[in-house]
Amino acid sequence: MSKFDDRGNPVSYRSQQAIDRLDRVFHLMHAYQADPLAEVDALLAEHPDFVMAHLFRAGALATATDRAFEPELVKSLTAAEELAPRANDRERLHIAACRSWLDGEWARGTELWGRASIEYPRDLVALQYAHLGDFSLGHSHLLRDRVARVLPHWNASVPGYGFIQGMYAFGLEESGDYRQAEARGRAAIDLNPQDGWAVHAVAHVMEMEGRANEGADFLASTAKAWAPNSLFAFHLWWHKALFHIDANDMTGALTLFDENISAGGFGQALELVDGSALLWRLSLLGHDVGGRWAGVADPWEARVDHAYYAFNDVSAMMAFVGAGRTGAQVRLIAAAQRAAAGQGTHAMMSREIGLPACQALASFGRGDYASTIEHMMPLRCKANRMGGSHAQRDMFSWTLTEAAVRLGDRALADALIAERLSWKPESPINRAWALRAGQLDRKRVDLC
Ligand SMILES: [Fe+2]
Repeated sequence: MSKFDDRGNPVSYRSQQAIDRLDRVFHLMHAYQADPLAEVDALLAEHPDFVMAHLFRAGALATATDRAFEPELVKSLTAAEELAPRANDRERLHIAACRSWLDGEWARGTELWGRASIEYPRDLVALQYAHLGDFSLGHSHLLRDRVARVLPHWNASVPGYGFIQGMYAFGLEESGDYRQAEARGRAAIDLNPQDGWAVHAVAHVMEMEGRANEGADFLASTAKAWAPNSLFAFHLWWHKALFHIDANDMTGALTLFDENISAGGFGQALELVDGSALLWRLSLLGHDVGGRWAGVADPWEARVDHAYYAFNDVSAMMAFVGAGRTGAQVRLIAAAQRAAAGQGTHAMMSREIGLPACQALASFGRGDYASTIEHMMPLRCKANRMGGSHAQRDMFSWTLTEAAVRLGDRALADALIAERLSWKPESPINRAWALRAGQLDRKRVDLC
């Protein structure tokens, strides 16, 4: 006889008590609270043939987008595949999704988790993994629409309703519907103040609308609820640091780096991505970040040959340029070239974005700003293909604007700054760029 989880999804396992326990693990993951992997490991120690528990673990490890986790992902997926004959249809979709992801077909893996959420609209784990896949692939509108597909099947009586609102809020934000995004995000926070993804969605709205002081206050005032056991705190602190930078408070941003963003010791790529992105912005503005680059560059260098995810490669290159590690830059570009010549999702990402972006950043490190612009300008129209959020990909605009100013290309600098001011007219950073560009002579640039 079939058993069901607390949202009514069929589960092939025999023990209802173990299924209920896995529901509580799911809740931790949806809220980004510690520590669903430790909890599922304890569950699997007692129930080693619980296929959905293995699949939960495999999906969480896959969507962390770090090759360092791949051996554990293989372990979980292998266990699930061995149990496949007794799995149900929903679980077999999860198996296929994890297999595709592990084989480098991230887009197909994301679609398979998405298909599971279409067939089983209350399969919130499948939806969250598809949501994270969409995030890693830069599918801005699917971050919204994949959640919208299942909304008719949810209401406040279904456990996890707030998490659906939080995911939808982030998708709305990435799709530019800031008013509805903020309303949905705040509604989710009201239901569960520990919901890190909903807090994140509201922070993104404030980032995109240039509400720097309000954004910093919002994160500070809500942190008591989400921060203490959050596995996502480093990223929310990164957002707070961006607000500080946009309010011209570089000391506040560096303090957040030292005390919060680096608190996990940069043990995973997701933390390293934020470390690189923050130090890169500060360095571009001419701030001395001291020895902090080494703390980020060292763990990136341990991954230099991974060529696992273009977003990671670009983030690693920022650290190698910031730390002045030319040898690592050369190795990373060689790895990206190998990846670009391969197959699968990452090959596409490397060809389209990762490799030219790494070359642009390496050029910046050599002071060859014309080369930076040549490599990076054509990426603006398709930068989403390397994944991430609009706020993260703003790095392209930052780098190009600074390169144009340093090169003395007045026309390009004026154009990029006009773009930035149309978005954030009050930003002291944008105004400072405008002042510097205003001091440049308008000279003829040989464009052809
Ligand atoms: Fe974010």
